[in-house]
Amino acid sequence: MIRFTLNGNNYEFSGADDTPLLWVLRDSAGLTGTKYGCGTGQCGACTVHIDGRARRACVTSAKDAAGRTVTTIEGLSRDASHPVQKAWRETNVAQCGYCQSGQIMSVAAMLERLPSPSDEDIDREHRNICRCGTYPRIRKAIHRAAELSRKGSDHE
Ligand code: FES
Ligand code: FES
Repeated sequence: MIRFTLNGNNYEFSGADDTPLLWVLRDSAGLTGTKYGCGTGQCGACTVHIDGRARRACVTSAKDAAGRTVTTIEGLSRDASHPVQKAWRETNVAQCGYCQSGQIMSVAAMLERLPSPSDEDIDREHRNICRCGTYPRIRKAIHRAAELSRKGSDHE
């Protein structure tokens, strides 16, 4: 039995240790916001947080999550009020939407490390692929999310 914290709750998985975390989340836990794109760690559609860091769930095994804290797009905020989610809506980033939960999870983790990223930081750190080519809006939304996060922390 593999136990970990999933979006704030205890979770137990009784399948094979080497099951990709992506399938644990989607098929066992029913959290389908985390998407399958390439399955080889390239595209980022499956990005979740493990102990606060962005991880690609398709190349992370269930046993690698044991004892850790896993957050998916469903658990990023209670009411879609995370600054990255707000900025994404304001900027209308999504086209088909398929890659977007991974984009948001990746950016949320990046902003924890780099609260005011430059364009060069974004180019270096944010490597998720979008087949619809929403990259200009993603960049704009990252800067807006950083601004919203700064304003939020000013009010604390
Ligand atoms: S599905 Fe995991 S990186 Fe593409
Ligand atoms: S919005 Fe369609 S793949 Fe990114």
